[in-house]
Amino acid sequence: MKINKNISLKSYNTFGIDVKAKFFSEIYDESQLKEILSFEEYKLLPKLILGGGSNVLLTKDFDGLVLKISIPGIEVINENDKTVIVSAGAGEIWHKLVLFCVAKNYGGIENLSLIPGTVGAAPMQNIGAYGQELKDVFDNLSGIYIENGESAVFQKDDCNFAYRDSIFKNKLKDKFIITGVSVRLRKNPILNLDYGNVKYEIGKLGYDRIGVKEVSEVISKIRQSRLPDPAVIGNAGSFFKNPEVSEEKFNQLKKNFNGIIGFKLGNGKVKVPAGWLIESCGWKGKKVGNTGSHAKQSLVLINYGNATGEEVLNLAKEIKKSVLNKFGIELKEEVNII
Ligand code: FAD
Ligand code: EPU
Repeated sequence: MKINKNISLKSYNTFGIDVKAKFFSEIYDESQLKEILSFEEYKLLPKLILGGGSNVLLTKDFDGLVLKISIPGIEVINENDKTVIVSAGAGEIWHKLVLFCVAKNYGGIENLSLIPGTVGAAPMQNIGAYGQELKDVFDNLSGIYIENGESAVFQKDDCNFAYRDSIFKNKLKDKFIITGVSVRLRKNPILNLDYGNVKYEIGKLGYDRIGVKEVSEVISKIRQSRLPDPAVIGNAGSFFKNPEVSEEKFNQLKKNFNGIIGFKLGNGKVKVPAGWLIESCGWKGKKVGNTGSHAKQSLVLINYGNATGEEVLNLAKEIKKSVLNKFGIELKEEVNII
């Protein structure tokens, strides 16, 4: 197994932040992972688990061991007339799994098309987009505890999935390495076209028939038209989560701020798009040194080229401050700050 020393992580995070890792190893199977976790010399070092690096902001050199999870494989492991269970290695590219399923007309993850990153990181924040979340199709996952190298399987109820959240982003953060994920999909897909302008965009393309393939194509198109491509401009998608406020607070905001948007969640709370709040504070498209807020989607912070993680973090702090001052709402980071 190869262990590199003092390597740059610039090409391993989509923000393109240039920090160094003291030790770095790419992992292709569980036995390699168990072996490296058993080495005395790395036992006491901090560990950073890395997939595609599309949801991290690296703010300093990492004085420990980076484990880049590249475990491959996608296969159907079980099926009946109605459903199919597809299992994938944690290192597979998420969108490759989506394309595998779409090609076979398996329904349930087509709205999650083109989300960057790996299969193994998907449960971490219960990835979601356009009205679907991983938890809707999640069956189980397997992985290994860093402390003792023991294997474990998590069923859906064990994962505490919530909006951009799970047990892996909280109690088990940096403690448990996901090595494989299984999803349960429908052989007769039920399409979900209710989010935003999805139906309208599909209509415009004049398809004869609409199935998971067409939905996947349209979602990909919408995403490409709004979100910056990390291969071209450094970013990690939405930097903050969309905040939830009480209905009472939202009604008050509506009186004070014309045009504020909110989506009732049915539990007495309203989800307010952070992008709207940030735009209303004047940040949209604004450049601050090497960083800025994206011109088409203000929730996405970007690296114009040579930004440090600290610079991005400082911009995020300023944005948080202005949203708090204007609306009394505290934004919380979606991105993992390291
Ligand atoms: P990384 O960034 O490598 O890691 C993210 C976190 O998960 C880190 O804390 C890491 O330690 C941990 N982790 C990674 N792999 C493992 C593992 N195998 N076991 C345990 N922990 C692990 N997200 C959405 O939910 N919806 C979107 O629509 C969306 N759109 C995006 C658009 C763009 C342009 C970008 C750049 C990002 C977007 N994201 C979105 C965020 C990101 O794509 C997801 O969070 C994705 O799941 C991250 O995968 P990754 O492999 O890059 O994770
Ligand atoms: N909006 C603004 N100004 C902006 C951005 C958005 O007014 O600068 C408004 C839009 O007009 C729209 C509303 O906010 O009315 C919601 O915008 P959008 O549909 O673009 O979605 P979002 O809430 O900003 C969330 C996710 C995305 C996901 C999309 C689609 C979070 C934090 N972000 O963004 O996920 O792709 O919905 O489902 O929940 C990510 O997590 O990294 C990510 C990109």
